[in-house]
Amino acid sequence: MTRCRYLLALNFGTIRGMTPSPAVSAAGALAADHPLVDGRTADSPLITAYRGGKPSRRPVWFMRQAGRSLPEYLKVREGIAMLDSCLRPELASEITLQPVRRHDVDAGIFFSDIVIPLKLAGVGVDIVPGVGPVLEKPVRTAADVAALPQLTWEALEPIREAVRLTVAELGRTPLIGFAGAPFTLAAYMVEGKPSRDHLGPRTMMHADPETWNALANWAADASGLFLRAQLEAGASAGQLFDSWAGSLGLGDYSRFVAPASSRALDHVRQLGAPLIHFGTGTSELLVAMRDVGVDVVGVDYRLPLDEANRRLGGTVPLQGNIDPALLAAPWEILEAHVREVIAAGSAAPGHVLNLGHGVPPETDPAVLTRVVQLIHSISPE
Ligand code: CP3
Repeated sequence: MTRCRYLLALNFGTIRGMTPSPAVSAAGALAADHPLVDGRTADSPLITAYRGGKPSRRPVWFMRQAGRSLPEYLKVREGIAMLDSCLRPELASEITLQPVRRHDVDAGIFFSDIVIPLKLAGVGVDIVPGVGPVLEKPVRTAADVAALPQLTWEALEPIREAVRLTVAELGRTPLIGFAGAPFTLAAYMVEGKPSRDHLGPRTMMHADPETWNALANWAADASGLFLRAQLEAGASAGQLFDSWAGSLGLGDYSRFVAPASSRALDHVRQLGAPLIHFGTGTSELLVAMRDVGVDVVGVDYRLPLDEANRRLGGTVPLQGNIDPALLAAPWEILEAHVREVIAAGSAAPGHVLNLGHGVPPETDPAVLTRVVQLIHSISPE
């Protein structure tokens, strides 16, 4: 089925007349000593479920499992800026491993950020605590886009090094690599900062589609290379985060965004690692998000998984979708909710438990550990 989807995706690209991005031809197969190839992770519960097989236990990981909910994270980050911490390989690796050690989750998610490819390309960007990504200069005109520096493969060496250190420690637990999807990344670039409605990029798509497409393709290639660096260095799966795609209607998504997201994934498809696509507020976009050519669809907390599966025609494994708000509810309420999510997910051809968005920073980490224990205690039938 994965193979079939891959061919479909290639076909989709051809139909839309997209030119393959330059790095595509350069990417080959994963190396013989890659964890997915040498037997370390191919049969893990996570990869088995992503491929639609029967896992030995119910796999679970959490978006933002590394980070401010963990005292050990706050300790190692003391005095170090967020993006600097991502570019110190030992530190990024240590932060990635912290939640795996503590919670016994079924995957590590590489500690980095969707704006790291911008930073490594030489774009002036920072993450302001409590705010999010802020650019020195927003990208709003054709000249702004033309002036963007290209991300090089060499600049990604700190990322590859952090991944190598991490997978050496993880053993049989897979590492998930990730990248921001072109829309979410471009949304920050146009606005220059986080925004609620993403008016800037949504205006640009219609008012100046040529500039929008050039920007979306730039972001696709930067994100695609960033993800490819992680996969080639040892990550066993890759997740494309289109966190803000939910601000788009299906028409705009299909016309102005899906081709660029597909282009980002063109950089990694032939590596054969499972690919997951996640966004929030995307209940109406799930089919279009699958059709950019991915193996797994991540569902946010708004749509029950049985309904998501119905909309997708039972074609792909799902990931999700415990409501992060319930992490702060009394245990009985949270437990009942987790059991409901598992029951709804059983309709799909595979299910990896996760939250419906990231771990809130104020979460009690002991609750996350208990949720993992609960999920692992329920047999994967
Ligand atoms: O466990 C993990 O998921 C770790 C890796 C990770 C981070 N960011 C670390 C991070 C991942 C996968 C991301 C992706 C990311 N970054 C997304 C997509 C996922 C999502 O949450 O929707 C987005 C939209 C961003 C952009 C971004 N970076 C935001 C909105 C913020 C929060 C700003 C704030 O301070 O509230 C960041 C900063 C960030 N990225 C933090 C972490 C752990 C917090 C920074 C800190 O600890 O000081």
